Amino acid sequence: MESALTARDRVGVQDFVLLENFTSEAAFIENLRKRFKENLIYTYIGSVLVSVNPYKELEIYSKQNMERYRGVSFYEVSPHLYAIADNSYRSLRTERKDQCILISGESGAGKTEATKKILQYYAVTCPASQQVETVKDRLLQSNPVLEAFGNAKTLRNDNSSRFGKYMDVQFDYRGAPVGGHILNYLLEKSRVVHQNHGERNFHIFYQVLEGGEEDLLRRLGLEKNPQQYHYLVKGHCARVSSINDKNEWKIMRRALSVIGFSDSEVEDLLSVVASVLHLGNVQFAVDEQGNAQVTTENQIKYLARLLAVEGSVLRDALTHKKIIAKGEELVSPLNLDQAAYARDALAKAIYGRTFSWLVNKEEKFPAWRSTTVLGLLDIYGFEVFQHNSFEQFCINYCNEKLQQLFIELTLKSEQEEYESEGIAWEPVQYFNNKIICDLVEEKFKGIISILDEECLRPGDATDTTFLEKLEETVKNHPHFLTHKLADQKTRKSLGREEFRLSHYAGDVTYSVAGFLDKNNDLLFRNLKETMCNSENPIINQCFDRTELTDKKRPETAATQFKNSLSKLMEILMSKEPSYIRCMKPNDAKQADRFDEVLIRHQVKYLGLMENLRVRRAGFAYRRKYEVFLQRYKSLCPETWPTWDGRPHDGVALLVKHLGYKPEEYKMGRTKIFIRFPKTLFATEDALEVKKQSLATKMQATWRGFYRRKKFLTMKRSGFPEHSLVTVLSGVSTGMKDLTQCKIFVLFSAITIQSWWRGTLERRKAAKRKWAVETIRRFIKGFIYRNHPRCPENEYFLDYIRYSFLMNLKRNLPKNVLDKSWPNPPPSLSEASQLLRQLCLQNMVWSYCKRISPEWKQQLEQKVVASEIFKGKKDNYPQSVPRLFINTRLGKEEIHTKVLQALENEALKYAVPVVKYDRRGYKARARQLLLTQSAAIVVEESRIKQRIDYTNLTGISVSSLSDNLFVLHVHCEDNKQKGDVVLQSDHVIETLTKTAILADKINNVNINQGSIKFAVGQGKEGIIDFISGSELLVAKAKNGHLTVVAPRLNSR
Ligand SMILES: Nc1ncnc2c1ncn2[C@@H]1O[C@H](COP(=O)(O)OP(=O)(O)OP(=O)(O)O)[C@@H](O)[C@H]1O
Ligand SMILES: [Mg+2]
Repeated sequence: MESALTARDRVGVQDFVLLENFTSEAAFIENLRKRFKENLIYTYIGSVLVSVNPYKELEIYSKQNMERYRGVSFYEVSPHLYAIADNSYRSLRTERKDQCILISGESGAGKTEATKKILQYYAVTCPASQQVETVKDRLLQSNPVLEAFGNAKTLRNDNSSRFGKYMDVQFDYRGAPVGGHILNYLLEKSRVVHQNHGERNFHIFYQVLEGGEEDLLRRLGLEKNPQQYHYLVKGHCARVSSINDKNEWKIMRRALSVIGFSDSEVEDLLSVVASVLHLGNVQFAVDEQGNAQVTTENQIKYLARLLAVEGSVLRDALTHKKIIAKGEELVSPLNLDQAAYARDALAKAIYGRTFSWLVNKEEKFPAWRSTTVLGLLDIYGFEVFQHNSFEQFCINYCNEKLQQLFIELTLKSEQEEYESEGIAWEPVQYFNNKIICDLVEEKFKGIISILDEECLRPGDATDTTFLEKLEETVKNHPHFLTHKLADQKTRKSLGREEFRLSHYAGDVTYSVAGFLDKNNDLLFRNLKETMCNSENPIINQCFDRTELTDKKRPETAATQFKNSLSKLMEILMSKEPSYIRCMKPNDAKQADRFDEVLIRHQVKYLGLMENLRVRRAGFAYRRKYEVFLQRYKSLCPETWPTWDGRPHDGVALLVKHLGYKPEEYKMGRTKIFIRFPKTLFATEDALEVKKQSLATKMQATWRGFYRRKKFLTMKRSGFPEHSLVTVLSGVSTGMKDLTQCKIFVLFSAITIQSWWRGTLERRKAAKRKWAVETIRRFIKGFIYRNHPRCPENEYFLDYIRYSFLMNLKRNLPKNVLDKSWPNPPPSLSEASQLLRQLCLQNMVWSYCKRISPEWKQQLEQKVVASEIFKGKKDNYPQSVPRLFINTRLGKEEIHTKVLQALENEALKYAVPVVKYDRRGYKARARQLLLTQSAAIVVEESRIKQRIDYTNLTGISVSSLSDNLFVLHVHCEDNKQKGDVVLQSDHVIETLTKTAILADKINNVNINQGSIKFAVGQGKEGIIDFISGSELLVAKAKNGHLTVVAPRLNSR
């Protein structure tokens, strides 16, 4: 900002806080307009960035521009997305604090573009390495895929995101991105089956048809023409000039490969996409009984193949409804409307769940190394249409929550800054929208609770009964109104099926039609069953069997949304936020058109005036003393050209010299706060004038210096007569005699020399005198150092304190293990002790704060491993630096039959092991699976032995470096075949996890020499352990199993 303060008259102000008339909406909009006209689309409100969509390519996103913003102070450069991005990144690195950037604004305002540009900025400016490049690629490439599946052409935006997105970018200690993580919110699923006039379905459908190779389309049973598909023709605009589906398809297809989709996974994914189109073409007719029958057999054939389900089962499921009442299954046929409803519900469920699957799949980056996180939130802005339904209700509720967070955090950070600067906080009047959030989300009394209650209520609950219930429960709420509750005048503007909420940003009228259906988001049980049996791996993962057995009713859409929002708020609250508020300049998507009415509407809906008011409630401008002094020091003789004292004192002198009145500014601990922009502008003007006079002075000084240098050179070279004549021609005018002239010059030179020498010596003497006094004061202080504070030791004690604290500042311990601490002088020993404690607490606190749940779990497991094995088993030290992995076998590596047999038992850990037969000691490859209640030995599709932890009597291992271990099993359990002898390449990890899960930490026996184990029916086997040069496991002549373990030098 400083750089452009001078340009304020030409292009308005770069920061709205500098608007003199900050309460005037007109002045605010005029400033935006002025800047927009000059292609200056970014303006700050303090640290919040306001962005106006230019609807044209601007030359401000080049690599050179990125470099301009890299590592540069926020206020030194003109407002830009990159400044926000860089500022967050630097806070993340220097303060090690998690950050988030919240991007909001209405549809088409440029949120997604802003997100992409920020990601590009990080991709270009963050440190790189081979692995990091892959992560960067994946982060960038996740966009085309998410956009293909989650974006669509709407009336407002040709590439409108129909879901909310929160993306975490994880950075390692070097500041390089090492991972990412995406959360999605409320995809607009209704678009899959219906689009308004002039709108399209999700891009992916058109991309497959337009870009897919012939061979692919044949496999998917698709035709190129979108008009053939009912789900694609509702909006009557399958083709749009601004969208090149073929090109987008290529980009999306390449992106899928970059983010790690194999060819077969792509095929599975596209099969799901195609199945939605085929579902849309499934038609019904009624038989004599009025029951629906499928008339489009061909579609069923395609669907059966693409979804990998039985065609007949799917056909039945589409025309029948299954319910379970009192444990009995009842199947009833559907009529025409119900069948069409079931078909559409299935299409929405398939697409919606696949979208979530896709988002989760993209999130699988290696993330454990990350230390700090930067989140980007690109979420739908406030929406007000002619007709507003359930979706707008959810979206606007989301915006209420974000506004609440925004106000809270902005106020909080203002207040915190005032407190930390020791300036009295002046309360700010603002509208707290908590009352509206409560109206929507409060338990029992809130709109969502009432909606859920109606959805769950037996009997004939309808949208109208829901509205009646609302009227009954919240009728007195000042932000709620219906036709019945309104007065005569307002009643005209409300339909009988509508309710109106007075949001923080304005009134929105919602039609209740469809609320119950959308909230229930119901999918008939037999359709769910059919999908659970699908052999398409994606569908199979999306429809979990537990849904069928789970007695609990699934959460309603609104409650799910409410819960996910509340989690999002927690995530955002734990981070330091930055804000980007996007606006669109016109509805026609045109460049250089600034529609004032539309802008005013958005300024209001984004709460920008409120934001400015909060920011300006106290002071318009604040800066660190060092920065302020550096800029304005030339305005005060005491601080110019250099100021050696404390910056605070320098600024105090400076503002006194400038004549600031007390009410115009406040001095904080590290910053000066200036209340009015006009004070700052006056100072800026003074600086401009000063610059001119400084320039003249500098010129004169330079000329003088230059002449003197020339003169000295001439003097040293013996005053050649001709040059003397030249130089002194002006001085010696009239002195025709050259000797007379020479004498005059020499005399002058000697006089100047002696005068100058005198000056130098006087300066030296003053310096010496000052030094002597300082030393004397110092010595005296040293002599009196142990006395109570008195004038004799005051200087010394202050100096010692100052130098100790400065030394401490430079040499603070870097981490909790660093025990160094500078020796304090006696007068500071107590303070030093307290500071040390504080510093330690602080480091511990910030370390603990940074520990992620996964890392905590890792550490806990490592502690258990240490308790069991430290100093007892030879290969324990090698295991210490290796991280324990969640599981060594993915679900895909375990046979589905085994997974099915485990049913509801969640798999906690799985590892490949070698099992030694109890008698012949033959080695066989097996898998060891750990669940919450048992250890299970598996051979491919068969469960060979299940050891419930209650039957596990102990675990034995040797003290040597081998990987063998024995699970001892309760002998009286007839189902058990005896103890199990296993070998795991990760024996410490495997046993630690087993011991924790089975609660047998104290039952792990570490044996020297040999281990005995039960072979079954009272028989016993023995394993002998000896040290040797290399690992050998073999049956010895004495019938024992002999294990030779290599010697390690670690113990
Ligand atoms: N900084 C920019 N420079 C040039 N064009 C832009 C910029 N920001 C946005 N646009 C244009 O505006 C269009 C809409 O932007 P974008 O998709 O980011 O809106 P959005 O806020 O994400 O909307 P929605 O809520 O519908 O997803 C873009 O497709 C692009 O053409
Ligand atoms: Mg978007």
